[in-house]
Amino acid sequence: MSEAPGARLSRLAPAKVNLFLAITGVRPDGYHHLETLFQTVRWGDDVELESSPDTESLWTWDVEGPSVRAEQDLTVRAATAWCEAARRPLGVRIRLRKRIPMGGGLGGGSSDAAAVLLLLNRLGPPLPPAKLHEIAASLGSDVPFFLHGDGAIGRGRGDVLEPLPPAPPLTLVLIVPPFGTETAKVYARARERVRHAPADGLARAVAARASGDPAAVREAHHNDLAEAAIRAYPELLRFTASVERALGRPPCLSGSGSTLYDVVAPEEADEVVARLAKLPGRRHVVVTGPVP
Ligand code: C5P
Repeated sequence: MSEAPGARLSRLAPAKVNLFLAITGVRPDGYHHLETLFQTVRWGDDVELESSPDTESLWTWDVEGPSVRAEQDLTVRAATAWCEAARRPLGVRIRLRKRIPMGGGLGGGSSDAAAVLLLLNRLGPPLPPAKLHEIAASLGSDVPFFLHGDGAIGRGRGDVLEPLPPAPPLTLVLIVPPFGTETAKVYARARERVRHAPADGLARAVAARASGDPAAVREAHHNDLAEAAIRAYPELLRFTASVERALGRPPCLSGSGSTLYDVVAPEEADEVVARLAKLPGRRHVVVTGPVP
């Protein structure tokens, strides 16, 4: 340990949205080849690490928020993998303050795990970036993206990344329904019939992001998982239809759902939230950008 026992470090584990997602094939391992445009927002979970003199201890504690078993497990797996790769028995306590809904397609569990890896790299002698990336990819397809954040193109399983230059901030209204979706279940339905994104869809989404124009970003949005998600979850079909009626335009779906979002001008955000007031679930107005 390069820091004294009891040292505490914390960081924001940001949520992400997919501004674009196309499935380009099915891999022999059952995963899907993707072309996606990831974007972090400046809102998410708080992750805190405390180093402990007791090298036997490796646990999460003080989790605030709903039951977050899966998230806890993934952060513990991240810490265990880091310690094994660094060949250091390390006592560490992990504290999570959850804000990102689970089963929401916002990458909460993946972001928590990446935050643990980044914090451990600050606590102990750091692992090289390639090793950190390898550990992240072993934890989940989205985890490597959260080592970088901001905007990036994801290919392969989503783990082959091409970081993008900074772009103007976009204001998003996240529309969280009162239910979550299971990623594997949605991908399984995507296999039945994939509605292919336009060939130049990714390039258009990247250009729209760079422009900072909410209407251009909405128009360029495409998600091949949207149809699969509403077939797997009829309640998402009904919820999406209600949101579309209230907004007067179709919402975007992040990842495999269940979170929908609208891209708005900053001054429009309150009015958009008000239009959705009668619907169940929660709304969060967030701004895109790198992690502070
Ligand atoms: O990698 P991760 O554990 O986050 O993936 C969860 C599930 O999502 C996988 O078990 C798989 O069913 C599906 N998935 C996929 N293709 C991807 C990413 C995820 O089929 N590129």
